[in-house]
Amino acid sequence: MSVSVLAALRTFKKHALIVLAVIVGFTVGHLVNANFYSDDAPVQPIEFSHRIHAAENEIPCMHCHVHAATSINAGVPSVNKCMNCHRAMPGVWESPEILKVRGYWERSEPIPWVKVYDLPDFVYFPHKRHIQAEVECQSCHGDVQEMDRVEKVSPLKMQWCLDCHKTREVENGRDCWTCHK
Ligand code: HEC
Ligand code: HEC
Ligand code: HEC
Ligand code: HEC
Ligand code: HEC
Repeated sequence: MSVSVLAALRTFKKHALIVLAVIVGFTVGHLVNANFYSDDAPVQPIEFSHRIHAAENEIPCMHCHVHAATSINAGVPSVNKCMNCHRAMPGVWESPEILKVRGYWERSEPIPWVKVYDLPDFVYFPHKRHIQAEVECQSCHGDVQEMDRVEKVSPLKMQWCLDCHKTREVENGRDCWTCHK
């Protein structure tokens, strides 16, 4: 074999290795993403733990999600709400995550939380009807009080709604116009 062919073969091998490394990189990255950062449990701008708030400190769900029983949306608390408690907690005032919260507060910016549960706009879902009928938060959202990061546990598919409406014998619960106005 001539020298030039050998050289070409070497560069080819080098390129093949790079290509292989890139493929392996992508695959590993994809698997890591799918397993640790799946869309079902998105990384939030602040590491807000429901376990610490709702379980360890027994803060009721509705203390923060104040609209759940009276409105279509349960809503997420404002930065002011966080500060109302955290201003009076010197113990964690300087912790890195609280410093981030204080940053949003000082800039008068809302915390850009990433939505976990999101229905298409053509579906009508009123929280209040469900809370008033005493359907527990956990039957749709799982054991949120045990989660350090909220994870989506329900598929939010039409059949999921219909199945529960059937079991609970909800009046008009399977008529199209109940959920599609
Ligand atoms: C101290 C305030 C606080 C308490 C108490 C609290 N939450 Fe939350 N909750 C939040 C904040 C802030 C978010 C947005 C950040 C996140 O998703 O972690 C949130 C997000 C959620 C979400 C996801 C919303 C979405 O994006 O789709 C659900 C579901 C939820 N909370 C349910 C509950 C339930 C059930 C309880 C009681 C067991 C509870 N929360 C108690 C503050 C609170
Ligand atoms: C009703 C009071 C209350 C409200 C409202 C509240 N928290 Fe807390 N938070 C606590 C308590 C209590 C702790 C536990 C502090 C400890 O371990 O000493 C805590 C802990 C934390 C921690 C962990 C701090 C650390 O580094 O150990 C973060 C981050 C946090 N809260 C963020 C938030 C955010 C963001 C909000 C608003 C969405 C919020 N909190 C609303 C009471 C509250
Ligand atoms: C019957 C099922 C069901 C029950 C019960 C329920 N939720 Fe939800 N929740 C949903 C669905 C579905 C969405 C998505 C709504 C959308 O995108 O329009 C949602 C969205 C949310 C959100 C995101 C913000 C919003 O309002 O869209 C929060 C926070 C939340 N729920 C908290 C709660 C809390 C707290 C309770 C109990 C007090 C509760 N939910 C009870 C099904 C339920
Ligand atoms: C875990 C059980 C459960 C699930 C899951 C559930 N629902 Fe319901 N839903 C109920 C109950 C119980 C009622 C009856 C409330 C009442 O009697 O006022 C109800 C009532 C309703 C109503 C009001 C019905 C009326 O007659 O006006 C709408 C709209 C609705 N649900 C939409 C949805 C949608 C959309 C979903 C899925 C995204 C869903 N529900 C999932 C239990 C559930
Ligand atoms: C209890 C609530 C509920 C009722 C009743 C209901 N739907 Fe839905 N529907 C949903 C939800 C939630 C979605 C969005 C999630 C999905 O695509 O499964 C949806 C999605 C759809 C879609 C879009 C499907 C797609 O693949 O994108 C169509 C079309 C539809 N519904 C038609 C109907 C018709 C027709 C009826 C009456 C026979 C009906 N729905 C009754 C909750 C409901």
